Amino acid sequence: LAGNRPGRPVPGTDFTPVAPNKADAVVIPDGWEQNVVIRWGDPVVTGAPEFDIAKQTAAAQAKQFGYNNDFVGLIPQDPQGKRFLMVVNHEYTTETQMFPAGQYDAANPTEEQVKIGWAAHGLSVVLVEKQRDGGLEVVPSHYGRRITLDTIFEVRGPAAGSKYLKTSADPTGTKVRGTQNNCSGGVTPWGTVLSGEENFHQYFANSEKVTDPVVQTRLTRYGIGKGTTTRKWERFDKRWDVPQEPNEVNRFGWVVEIDPNDPNSTPIKHTALGRFKHEAATVKITKDGRVAVYSGDDERFEYIYKFVSKGKYKPGTSAHARRHNSALLDEGTLYVAKFTGDSPASQIDGTGKLPSDGEFDGRGEWIPLVSGDKSFVDGFTAEEVYVFTRQAADKAGATKMDRPEDIEPNPVNGRIYAALTNNSDRGAAGKAGVDEANPRVGNKNGHVLEWEEDRGDAASTTFSWRLLLVCGDPATADTYFGGFPKDQVSPISCPDNVAFDPYGNLWISTDGNALGMNDGLFAVPVDGPNRGQVKQFLTVPIGAETCGPNVTSDFVTVAVQHPGEGGTVTNPQSHWPDGGNNLPRPAVVSVWRKR
Ligand code: FEO
Ligand code: CA
Ligand code: CA
Ligand code: CA
Repeated sequence: LAGNRPGRPVPGTDFTPVAPNKADAVVIPDGWEQNVVIRWGDPVVTGAPEFDIAKQTAAAQAKQFGYNNDFVGLIPQDPQGKRFLMVVNHEYTTETQMFPAGQYDAANPTEEQVKIGWAAHGLSVVLVEKQRDGGLEVVPSHYGRRITLDTIFEVRGPAAGSKYLKTSADPTGTKVRGTQNNCSGGVTPWGTVLSGEENFHQYFANSEKVTDPVVQTRLTRYGIGKGTTTRKWERFDKRWDVPQEPNEVNRFGWVVEIDPNDPNSTPIKHTALGRFKHEAATVKITKDGRVAVYSGDDERFEYIYKFVSKGKYKPGTSAHARRHNSALLDEGTLYVAKFTGDSPASQIDGTGKLPSDGEFDGRGEWIPLVSGDKSFVDGFTAEEVYVFTRQAADKAGATKMDRPEDIEPNPVNGRIYAALTNNSDRGAAGKAGVDEANPRVGNKNGHVLEWEEDRGDAASTTFSWRLLLVCGDPATADTYFGGFPKDQVSPISCPDNVAFDPYGNLWISTDGNALGMNDGLFAVPVDGPNRGQVKQFLTVPIGAETCGPNVTSDFVTVAVQHPGEGGTVTNPQSHWPDGGNNLPRPAVVSVWRKR
């Protein structure tokens, strides 16, 4: 690959790209160094026992770093940028790689093994410190905290106490035990973390046995599990058995908020942001000081949403500011996005060929679904819009997208960026066809969407959009790299998480590389002559996905999720990071330029 285009090098992307590979390692550019910050089983809470994979217990796991780290939020603790509270999501467990050979029978897990799974879900909070050489290390502190499937959450906002949230364990519908499938998230300007409960459907069993047709339609719309589950949790707690506790499923699929500054704080489920398979939730302050939250629903043909608060943001991270700003997420308006192309539909032929105006682009609108207790959707009460948001959005005529993953506002140019990871069903028989915002049939490699709210205001209900990247192999005609010469870019497939460096360059992590190579992290300028010049910064080990990127001016962190996925305990596909014959362990890695 050539360097940046003639002219000044682009600050933040002046590294030599890493070549696509299938190494069982984190591969970084020449001149950079790396360390493992924390891995599955490492101590989080004071007094956590030493990790021993052969003798793991639920009690130990509840004090140790959980499994399958995804989002990583870094909250600065000093003006020098030396110490951070690090908040990490543990999206899911892979029990078949969590126990030594012979210990785990997937058809008959023990109760203790199931409870280890509950304790390995949720989030971790640790204090980290930048070392003299540049890498991050965990330092012992009173902030160390695990949130698991046994931590009590307060339900807040308009659906708190809803009849749809009441269960035998919680007749008030206001207290939920735990959070699960926390995928990505966002750090709020007030120093807390928002985290998306994503694929919550997979933990619930036997939904086909529910006979009420209205309830059944709702369960089906959310893809709630039929028959027994992979993990068999329903054998040990009836809340996972839908016919026994039909409302438990409505208590997941929310955006949750964690206040890592206060280890005794009760985490919150914010119902005003709607219930769907939230990939993440990220905040932008509107021109008049309100809080907008963007969130994608990551499934094929699902939607992009925005919430705008009624009240105004108070700057600062004090306990008072945190309480005030968190409460803003409990009252406001929830919108869903509709994208309209500006080129004739006949020019969107499904191959990825650009229309005659040279871009996949157009206009968009935010359709209001609900505001406070007022529903804008015919046939839905406000309560139903909050709890069964997908069905309300169907009715409102939102645009069906190619799996909306992470969404992030650019702190430099103010535009918003979303990863559409892939959708092999686009244009298939009986499924939605292409449109200008989702222009490829059988979209295997995904694309990256950019939009600008009108007047640059996150409160606007209209916007302009265009595709920044149509991902894949740059040597093929169905890809587009923001107009940059395609012989000078890295191949990229299945964009998932997005982040910005302080210069406003977009960093994209990938999950599920359809080009046959390991996943990785990529940087791409979005303005100026280098717009679209995708450069691969690192690759992750075999079977892993790259998550949780954070990019500062002097270090990068990534979460390496599910290394060795697809392997078995007797035939592991990865031994990262411990090497030898060890089973793989999901871990957070920091990368810094050699001094
Ligand atoms: Fe958990 Fe949509 O990635
Ligand atoms: Ca166009
Ligand atoms: Ca993701
Ligand atoms: Ca993904």
